Amino acid sequence: MKRKGIILAGGTGSRLHPSTISVSKQLMPVFDKPMIYYPLTVLMEAGLDDILVITTPEDQAAFQKLLKDGRQWGLNIDYAVQPSPDGLAQALVIAKDWLDGAPSALILGDNLFFGQSFSVAVRAAALKSEGATVFGYRVRNPERYGVLGFDSTGKVTSITEKPKKPASDFAVTGLYFYDANASDYAAQVTPSARGEFEITDLNKIYLDKGLLDVELLSDTTTWLDTGTHRSLLRAAQFVSVIEERQGRRICCPEIVAFDQGRIDAAQLRALAEPLRKSGYGQYLLKVVESQPRV
Ligand code: TTP
Repeated sequence: MKRKGIILAGGTGSRLHPSTISVSKQLMPVFDKPMIYYPLTVLMEAGLDDILVITTPEDQAAFQKLLKDGRQWGLNIDYAVQPSPDGLAQALVIAKDWLDGAPSALILGDNLFFGQSFSVAVRAAALKSEGATVFGYRVRNPERYGVLGFDSTGKVTSITEKPKKPASDFAVTGLYFYDANASDYAAQVTPSARGEFEITDLNKIYLDKGLLDVELLSDTTTWLDTGTHRSLLRAAQFVSVIEERQGRRICCPEIVAFDQGRIDAAQLRALAEPLRKSGYGQYLLKVVESQPRV
């Protein structure tokens, strides 16, 4: 069965208050596009067609206005709600019927990844049929994340959620590939001391079964957090530096869809026209007009 993608875009965004009181964090701009475009294009790059966007009940309509049914980008986008932000593992339980026995890729709606080696790692993970794959990334502040512990041979032996004394500098990123059993395993997870269904507990189930593949992302990958005002600003600066230096825009669903052959040049032009007053729309038009591209 073909793998399906889930974007978890609920939560309270309380570290971004008051900015996120009336707007979902994942709809905030990261430089020139809504935050959710970044995880969405990761799932597209992984070759997935069916995507479920999980939001709070009050934000669902705004996401639907932006992403529609996905057909404009050659996708099928469906929606579900998480009534309250009870933890990341709940996404797999909410998605159970929608997944209908398919393997999945879950990505957090506020995670920004960039890099050629990352794309290669993602495509490889998407091809595996059994077990789960998570990605480790070296960070300055591992205690804020799920942290990997290694034995002397470099094998992963533990994952600990927000440890006071981290076993390593490697955090687990917000992109997870699971086989068809994830929803059933997620249903076995019980709330943690902070009252959340932790994704780390789901990943530990796979680890204990010997079915967790951990890929360490190299320094050539960028993984950015957008959860605070400062990290959101830094992420926007990162995108603007890359885009202005290279004269191209990254993580645009229209361009990924076009490059992957999900839409043709006429469809790309039709998507670009209504946006032509923005630099984003101008860029889409430039891509259509500069065929063939290298
Ligand atoms: P967090 O950044 O941990 O939480 P948050 O977005 O609610 O923000 P804050 O800590 O400032 O209150 O969440 C990571 C991502 O997962 C983010 O995209 C929101 C999403 N999320 C949910 O959709 N449901 C949840 O239950 C949780 C905990 C997070």
